[in-house]
Amino acid sequence: MSPPIDSGSTLGTLAAEQPLRIALFERLRLDYCCGGSTRLDDACARRGLDVDSVREQIEAVDRDGLRPDQAMPEWRPREATISELCEHVVSVHHDRMREEMPRISELLETVVRVHGADHSDLEMVARTFASLRTELEEHIEEEELVLFPTCRGLELGSIDPAGVEPGLIDRHRAEHEAVGRKLAALRDLAGGYELSQALCSTHRSLLEGLLRFETDLHLHVHEENNVLLERVGAMLDGPRIAGATTLDVLIETLVELAEAGRAERASRLAATAYAGLRRAEPDQAQRLNALMHKLILSPRHNDHKE
Ligand SMILES: [Fe+2]
Ligand SMILES: [Fe+2]
Repeated sequence: MSPPIDSGSTLGTLAAEQPLRIALFERLRLDYCCGGSTRLDDACARRGLDVDSVREQIEAVDRDGLRPDQAMPEWRPREATISELCEHVVSVHHDRMREEMPRISELLETVVRVHGADHSDLEMVARTFASLRTELEEHIEEEELVLFPTCRGLELGSIDPAGVEPGLIDRHRAEHEAVGRKLAALRDLAGGYELSQALCSTHRSLLEGLLRFETDLHLHVHEENNVLLERVGAMLDGPRIAGATTLDVLIETLVELAEAGRAERASRLAATAYAGLRRAEPDQAQRLNALMHKLILSPRHNDHKE
């Protein structure tokens, strides 16, 4: 039996743990991709949903799977390597987008030409989609030329994390957020893609196309934000965080050694560590330098012979 759902878990984590939950999040309009760092209880409060009922629905999906009409792809991004993830994003999402965007633009052109005079909102839908399309075309090109080769290089060890452009990950996340906002605006302008409001068969095809486009873009951004960038971000932050943690432990140990009456020994060890870190990590080395001076001035410094 699956463990109960913790309402403090983030939507991105819940979606990455079990991709079948994504169909439910889509149905409840819970933003698991750009809003992936939002806790389940906060997201439910924002949408006016009862968190306990949503937790039960998630647990039901985990237990029983999805109904046939809710079927989602079986792809499990968390089980893929970074290279496989990049390959999947390009061959599934980017290629689909490159095929679908011109088709939607054409449908929009037709619908605006035929119904635009009586429905001025259609022109706004066309303009918003055109702007989203331009942003996305530039975004996916940069991913394929810069971000994904960097991710693959980090995985294979052919790229040094220290040489990666600072802010690369944050910039992509910010672009995803901007795209998410535009996508939400597009949905509002297009009446929530309500098929019963379709003006003709072309308009219906357009609404169906926009809905599929939105669902696929949510999944696409989720796979990048909550799996790929999360993993690559940890590879970039890892050495820094690990170094800082190691230094914290070292400093604490040296302080305890000094307090136990071996301040001179602690001071010498701090000096050795300082010499080792001075060039590579000057900021961190500075903390050891300060400790060294503090230990030298310690009243217990000469209390014991080494
Ligand atoms: Fe992408
Ligand atoms: Fe992206």
